[in-house]
Amino acid sequence: MKKIMLAYLAILAFPALTFAQQGNDPLADPLLPFYVVTGFVFIVALLVLGIAIYLLQILNMLIRMQEAARPEAAPATAKQQSLWQRFWIWINGYQPLEKESELLLDHNYDGIRELDNHLPPWWKWLLYGSVVWGAAYLIVYHVTDTFPLMDDEYKMEVAKAAEQKAKLAAAQPAEVIDENALVYQPDEAILASGKKIYAINCASCHMPEGQGSIGPNLTDDYWIHGGSIKDIYLTIKNGVPEKGMISWAPVLSPAQMRDVAFYIKSIRGTNPPNPKAPQGELYKEEGSNGSAEQGASM
Ligand code: HEC
Repeated sequence: MKKIMLAYLAILAFPALTFAQQGNDPLADPLLPFYVVTGFVFIVALLVLGIAIYLLQILNMLIRMQEAARPEAAPATAKQQSLWQRFWIWINGYQPLEKESELLLDHNYDGIRELDNHLPPWWKWLLYGSVVWGAAYLIVYHVTDTFPLMDDEYKMEVAKAAEQKAKLAAAQPAEVIDENALVYQPDEAILASGKKIYAINCASCHMPEGQGSIGPNLTDDYWIHGGSIKDIYLTIKNGVPEKGMISWAPVLSPAQMRDVAFYIKSIRGTNPPNPKAPQGELYKEEGSNGSAEQGASM
């Protein structure tokens, strides 16, 4: 019994642990009553099983005591049988050999005869158990609607996730970026963030140092889609899908697109090795001193 209880406690503790890992409040789970009731049903079933085994043992003990009280009458075989053997005989409904003549059916096919054995008790109890379980299931899930069906359970979880998402979005509203008001500033935090975003998302096509490969060189003064901070931001935001540059708006937040646009501005004129030949038109930085003349061979 102790072992059973320990095992059950372990089973109970497992979902509690997974809840803890998720960092959710387990009490807020809409399926909590379901888990609690299932848990209780499980406990009760285990207890009933334990008590049944216990009673069986007591019964066996009583039988043995009775047999011991009249040693001459007790059949020798019953004494020699272990508890397990007797359980095996009982659960399978084996009949003693002496009874065989009573079980014999009338037909005789060329000497082959048949015994009228009952179905073994384990089989019958399995059937009765399934019937009871089925009835309880039907009532609980389809008549009283006490517990949600799988489909509803899924919808509840989706609704819960949507609620959490809305909460999260409300807690950290996305920074609104107005591309018309963007002014490039070499802000260290923004450039560091932009550098990271660039390394993860952009370096594969524009190369780690911006010298260009599949995508154009981002360090020179030639731009296909314009070199102002607003143009760069809009190219990142809308992409040039037909040329292989996706729109990054679904991937990056407005602030992240601003960060990476600022980073691209910051690497202008860094002259990385193996640059891709200039593409597009020369863009003159406002207030530029003509440094844009380099590489004007296009
Ligand atoms: C799958 C490859 C690919 C990836 C990844 C990629 N780009 Fe591009 N990018 C291109 C191509 C190709 C072009 C040229 C489009 C054209 O020819 O009009 C381009 C053009 C650009 C331009 C305009 C250049 C100009 O000359 O006007 C900018 C700015 C730019 N990309 C920024 C980025 C940023 C920022 C990222 C990461 C968030 C990024 N790209 C990721 C392929 C890519």
